[in-house]
This record gives sequence, C-alpha cells and structure tokens, in this order.
Amino acid sequence: MDFPTYNQIPEKFRLNEPVFQCDYLINGELLTWAGPFQEVYSPVCLADEHGNVAPKLIGQYPMLTSNESLQALESAVAAYDHGRGHWPTLSVEQRISHLEDFTYRMKEQRETVIQLLMWEIGKTYPDSAKEFDRTVEYIRDTIEAVKELDRNSSRFQIEEGVIGQVRRSPLGVVLCMGPYNYPLNETFTTLIPALIMGNTVIFKPPKYGVLLHHPLLTAFRDAFPAGVVNTVYGDGPTVVGPLMESGKVDVLAFIGSSRVASILKKQHPKPHRLRCVLGLEAKNPAIILPDADLDLAVSECLLGSLSFNGQRCTALKIIFVHESIADEFNRRMAEGIKKMGCGMPWEEKVQITPLPEAGKTVYLEGLIQDALEKGAMVINPGGGSMNQTFFTPALLYPVNEQMRAWNEEQFGPVVPVVPFNDLDIPLEYVTMSNYGQQISIFGKSADNMAHLIDPLVNQVCRLNINSQCQRGPDSFPFTGRKDSAEGTLSVSDALRVFSIRSLVAAKSTDLNKQIITSIIKENKSNFLSTDFIF
Ligand code: G3H
Repeated sequence: MDFPTYNQIPEKFRLNEPVFQCDYLINGELLTWAGPFQEVYSPVCLADEHGNVAPKLIGQYPMLTSNESLQALESAVAAYDHGRGHWPTLSVEQRISHLEDFTYRMKEQRETVIQLLMWEIGKTYPDSAKEFDRTVEYIRDTIEAVKELDRNSSRFQIEEGVIGQVRRSPLGVVLCMGPYNYPLNETFTTLIPALIMGNTVIFKPPKYGVLLHHPLLTAFRDAFPAGVVNTVYGDGPTVVGPLMESGKVDVLAFIGSSRVASILKKQHPKPHRLRCVLGLEAKNPAIILPDADLDLAVSECLLGSLSFNGQRCTALKIIFVHESIADEFNRRMAEGIKKMGCGMPWEEKVQITPLPEAGKTVYLEGLIQDALEKGAMVINPGGGSMNQTFFTPALLYPVNEQMRAWNEEQFGPVVPVVPFNDLDIPLEYVTMSNYGQQISIFGKSADNMAHLIDPLVNQVCRLNINSQCQRGPDSFPFTGRKDSAEGTLSVSDALRVFSIRSLVAAKSTDLNKQIITSIIKENKSNFLSTDFIF
C-alpha cells in the first residue's frame, strides 16, 4: 500500500488549508489562546516528488493549562448555580428548542466535519459521513425520547392520601470525554443527553479527533446560554486532573480505557458524590460452532474484527473456532482479508486505512512477534506488513493463552484465532476475562444456542446470534460488565444516567390542592406542571 502525492488526491477530498485552531469556548465566549499549541498530523501520509513519505500536517489546537481548565469549570458551575441557574430551571420544551437550534447549525457544518473526521483519524469517507448522520439522528431520537419522558411525567399520582408529581432533574456539572474512534458520535451520545436533562458541560475532545469539533464551536456558543457548554483542550493530566481534584464535577462521562477511568475516579475527593458513566475496553470473542454457516460466520467475523481497522470497542478481538472446521474457516477468512480494499480513506470500497495512534503499528508488530515466538503463524499472505501508519491485517493462528494476543485488546487489524475441541475452552475464557461487553455465537442448532445463551448472558451484556458484535441500534442498551463499562447508554437510558428522580409531594388537603391548582393553572412552575409536549 503506497501513500499518494498531494496531487493524486481527488480535489473533493483535499484539505487545502490546515485548521489552526486558536479558540476555545468558555462562558459563551470564544477566547483566543496565545500559548503553546499541539500540531496535528493526519495518519494519512503524503509522498513528495522524490518519493519521501511523511505524515500530513492538518492543523493545531491550543494546549491549555490548568488555569483555563478551571475557568471552564467555574463557568459550568456558575451556569448550573446549584440547580438554580437559567439552564437547569428551564422547561424541557425550552431546552429542546435550544437543541434544535444547535442541530440546525451543526448540519450546516456537515461536509467540513466529515472531511476533518476522515483526515484526523483516517476513517473512510462513507464511514465518516455515517458517523455524522448517525449523530444527528441520535440527537433527534433523544429529543423524541425526552418528550416521551416528559409526557409520562406530566401527571399527578395520588397514593395513600399523598399527591405527587415525579420528574427527572439534572445532576450538575458533567465532564464529557469521548474516544478517538468515534470522536463525534460517542462524545455526543453523552453530551447531548447531559445537556437536554439540564446539566452544564465541560467537554474535552479525545487526543486524536480534536479539530473536527472546531467547526461546531460557534454553534455551541450561539445555540446555548453562556456557560452551558465549555471546551478544554490539551494534555489530559494537566487539564482534566484539576477538574476532578476540584470535587466540582458531578458526573464523569468517559469513553476510553479503564486505566484512565480509574485514575480520574480516584482524583475526585468525594467519590460517593461522583456519578460515572463509562464505556471502556473489551475483548469480545466469537465462538464458531461445528455446524455454523461458514459463509455467514466469515463475513460477520471479517466485519466484526476489521471494520474501521478493528478500532471499535465492540470489535471481535478473539475468535474461537471448532477444530473440525478451523482449516476451512481460516482459508475463507484469509481469502476475505485479501479481498478487502486497503488504501486511502477517500478511495472507493476501501476498508483498511492508516492508523491514527502514535506508535500503533509498532505495538501491533510486537503483538504478532510475541505470538510467532510462542507458536502461532500469520496465515494470510502479506499479513502484518507495515508502511508508516499503515498495517496490513494479520490473521494469527493458532493463538493460545501464553500469548499477549490472548488477553490484550489489540484495537487494530490483528485477528487472533483459537482452535477448540471442548466448548469449555471459550466458556472458561469468557469467565476469566477482565471484560464483559459482548459475544457472538455462530451455529445453526437452536438447542446448542439456547444451551449457551443462558450462562453467557450472565457474563456479558449482549449475546449476538450469527451476527457480529455492535453497539447499534442506539435504542438498545449499550453496556458491559467487569472492566468494560459502568452505567448503560441507549437513547432513553442516557437520559436516566444524567438525571435523578425528584418529586413534589403534598398531603391531599384542601389548602395543598388549592396551591397546586393555582401553580398549574397559572403556569407558575416549570417542574410542577401538567403541560404536555406534542
Ligand atoms: O467503539 C465502540 C463503539 O461504541 C462501537 O460502536 O458497534 O456501532 O461500531 P459500533
């Protein structure tokens, strides 16, 4: 796989001007940074006329210090104002109208965001477009879900002589941090529900996937009241550490590694006051039973292990295949990998693209080397070969428990395959694993499937029959056991995660009924209200 020269890039996909981001959003103002910046290089390298290849510089962003980060915090704290602020006390309908305004402005930036997504993390153009559109759809679905939630709360209950109205209220200041593989979508799957429930937010983009948020900064500034959305950029320990140590973050919404999540949680001085919603790593296995439909199993395993180069937390990261069909499965997997398009993210039908993480190809090479030394082979031609940021997918076989590929989350295009003759081997693997997100089982017998479903749903949070693991549809719960997650995200679950039930109750006396009736009739309160959002 060769990298192109600049002139070989079709005009539509060229990033002519680097994005030199100097601004950051605090308290409704785009402030200008005059300190140091982080240069951003694309994983897509370019060749010059002499054939020298180097990563392309695509921009820079501010390396803020703890001072700016604490300013962002104070802005969010003030906008929330202990729940008395303008935003947390607005009616749901009013918050929805701000979000609709934001969505309108966001959609105007569609093409620019997609281009940056593609250049910044090497995601194919169609997948970058899909990420943007899925995010807009997620916002729409969230608005519908919050309306439904509000409608269900627009009534009184009378129990044991007590009148009550129960609604969900915000929690406070939310720190949102998404991952580099879905920098827009997964950040917004926490940011949007947090906002709509009335929380104020500080948002830090992931290390890779910063610039693509820049075109949305003015939309955030113009669509929301001052202080409701604030952004910080820079080195994690420098800008995030002080936020957590302040004790003023009420909810940590983090999608990344369990190692970083543990550090952040420990930094908070009042751990029981901190709520967390965490999407962490996984090592989702596939089990291929002897009666599996191999065409189906192979096509799902190829997608499951290698879409976006295997850089999905839901990716299939280890495949257990029954010995009786292992040779044929491997042959078809190798053939499938050979047919996968490798190249630049804008090229048609390309699936495997350059990797954004610094040092990633060297890490993957080490993983393979370790497996080779312990008896595995790379069984697809050219598998594991590298060129700068590009890594050809490697099918590793036979993998065993001595190898790093057995336990480590590769998060890249390496597919470890383990032969088994006793089902206890994959079952024991799942039981002993530090992770518990999802599993895929391939087979035709309903009896065998049922036999596996009952124990495995208590080990993972989603069992996929004859299908790869995945997060969607977004209305389904997305969560995990052990070190894979804390809390549940789906369109409706996320609204719950960022809120708490709160109620107004009164003994059913004449005076209380009079007070409540007057509040309702004269629309005196946003909380105590029977208004119905259509
Ligand atoms: O990185 C983890 C993502 O949540 C995976 O989402 O299954 O839709 O690719 P996906």
